[in-house]
Amino acid sequence: MNSEAVKKNNITWFNGYVSREDREKAHDHKGAVIWFTGLSASGKSTIAHIVEKQLHERGCSTYVLDGDNVRHGLCADLTFCAKDRAENIRRIGEMVRLFVDAGIIVLTAFISPYRQDRQQVRSLLSDGQFLEIHVDCPPEICATRDQKGIYQKAQAGIIKEFTGISAPYEPPENPELIIQSHEEDAKAAAKKVVELIEKCGVV
Ligand code: ADX
Repeated sequence: MNSEAVKKNNITWFNGYVSREDREKAHDHKGAVIWFTGLSASGKSTIAHIVEKQLHERGCSTYVLDGDNVRHGLCADLTFCAKDRAENIRRIGEMVRLFVDAGIIVLTAFISPYRQDRQQVRSLLSDGQFLEIHVDCPPEICATRDQKGIYQKAQAGIIKEFTGISAPYEPPENPELIIQSHEEDAKAAAKKVVELIEKCGVV
């Protein structure tokens, strides 16, 4: 909520008696967001779930959030126009901030096509709490992997404003990691992500 709305509604933030640091100590790792961005069917969710399984097996507290699921509830009212996508990512940003405060490693798989929207989420977090991973894959290859038939519908003009076909995708300028998912399989990509998480001191 912006500061004006906070003042108007007489809202104060209460920090509680247990700090993020306390929760991180209990989990034996830091809270962080592993933010996967890329086209639909580029492999974001697949890689995120493999990484989650490996972290879970090491005893980490984790959660995966993905576009299709979040749009069933929290963001069910939003379309795919640029303004609604910004609102989608804004709500998710506020949610992941709470996850990080809870000391959890949250892995997100949203197209999140706009640089500014991703930057806004990064700005909510401290250094080392937001690791951006670009899952880079040409749209023609994504289309061959698409099990939902949405690329065909987008090419036929049935789905409008489809990212990579009729709506833009702005690649990150300085992501923590780039995965060429048409050149390496999901298992190899997941290994790189886990190495990054270790290198950044999250686990
Ligand atoms: S985002 O652009 O707002 O970040 P999000 O990740 O939540 O998108 O949702 C993407 C999913 O919605 C895709 O995997 C696809 O299944 C579905 N979808 C439906 N319409 C579109 C569209 N116009 N562009 C992209 N994805 C769409």
